[in-house]
Amino acid sequence: MHPWSPTSQRSVGQTFWLGMLLFRAKPPETWLGKVLSDLPSVLVDHAHLERKAATSALSLEKYRDLFEQVDALNAIAIEELQHFTLVLGILRRRGIPFGPPTPSPWIRGLMRGIRSGQRHQAIDHLICAALIEGRSCEKFQWLAEALRNRDAELAEFYGGLVESEGNHYASYLIMARHIDEKEADRRLDYYLDLDAKLIGEDHPAAILH
Ligand SMILES: [Fe+2]
Ligand SMILES: [Fe+2]
Repeated sequence: MHPWSPTSQRSVGQTFWLGMLLFRAKPPETWLGKVLSDLPSVLVDHAHLERKAATSALSLEKYRDLFEQVDALNAIAIEELQHFTLVLGILRRRGIPFGPPTPSPWIRGLMRGIRSGQRHQAIDHLICAALIEGRSCEKFQWLAEALRNRDAELAEFYGGLVESEGNHYASYLIMARHIDEKEADRRLDYYLDLDAKLIGEDHPAAILH
């Protein structure tokens, strides 16, 4: 099934997670073909993505406004490390060597928009992290569907991550709104526009983002 097929072809659970995402643009249609054509590279990139998601959760703990959230952020970091371990297991079983990370122009573009100043930085950092989680949630869903008849193990693996990444997306947005609801909504609006602009810029690397 094409990733952008009508929602009527999806299960209720899948529709829930995709319906929760606020994105204003779709990734280029070339994205799926590109990642399916080089799954070993995508798996290495995915391993780094989970590693970076764990470190990102921990680095959010430096903000004064998030000291109260330290347990929730630790829980997210632990979950991301578990995902990292799962991807490493797949790499090993398939004889794919772990390699260096590939930079993502989309992630770099989002992070460049983070303002300085304790509170502004915390809100922007949370929203960037939320959008990365949200795009993972969306893309893992598409990968699970596309891989169903090609690679059952990977299809199940990606399908199994959708809920967790969707939860992380929601948790980060809730944390940002908890700091300052109006400012978080204003910045989310800014970042959704930025994401829509950046997501359309195709690049040749077989990476998730
Ligand atoms: Fe994850
Ligand atoms: Fe996550």
